[in-house]
Amino acid sequence: MKSISSLASLLIICALSVSTYPCFAENGIGFFYIVLQWPGSYCNTKQGCCYPKNGKPANDFSIGGLWPFYFNGTFPTYCNPHSSFNLSKISDLTKIMQQNWPSLACPRSDSKSLWSREWQKYGTCSESLLNQHQYFEAALNLKEKIHLLKILN
Ligand SMILES: *[C@@H]1O[C@H](CO)[C@@H](O)[C@H](O)[C@H]1NC(C)=O
Ligand SMILES: *[C@@H]1O[C@H](CO)[C@@H](O)[C@H](O)[C@H]1NC(C)=O
Repeated sequence: MKSISSLASLLIICALSVSTYPCFAENGIGFFYIVLQWPGSYCNTKQGCCYPKNGKPANDFSIGGLWPFYFNGTFPTYCNPHSSFNLSKISDLTKIMQQNWPSLACPRSDSKSLWSREWQKYGTCSESLLNQHQYFEAALNLKEKIHLLKILN
């Protein structure tokens, strides 16, 4: 298994010029998409938005998800109902996640239910490559490395 940093740089090398970034890995999962969203656009939709309980997120793109895909382009979801989200496994990441992976849905929340849903739906399908801590850390590192706002500036 590749280390996270080499997986992350691999993802960067394959980055495209749009807001989703596919790349190749191994172990059944062919590549990941890192999905970034502009909070202002989210808030401009009919549904509106609510800032998280911890306050306004960073004035930057936020993480929308890290989605594993098979080589054939289909993507798996909800791969392991027994692997539940465990906040204490990412306690060192929650502060930076509140800034970079906030829930903008109403009613306002502390984002934990969003992270739990993301883990259940996509994270559990990445477990052959990334454990829970590595999964969230990989998304944060990718966002940091891609620095989409800087590219667009
Ligand atoms: C794509 O690949 C996955 C994993 O190998 C497989 O389970 C799935 O059936 C494939 N789907 C198609 C449409 O080929
Ligand atoms: C959550 O993770 C912590 C740290 O790894 C562990 O000690 C604890 O048993 C886990 N809780 C559950 C419900 O799995």
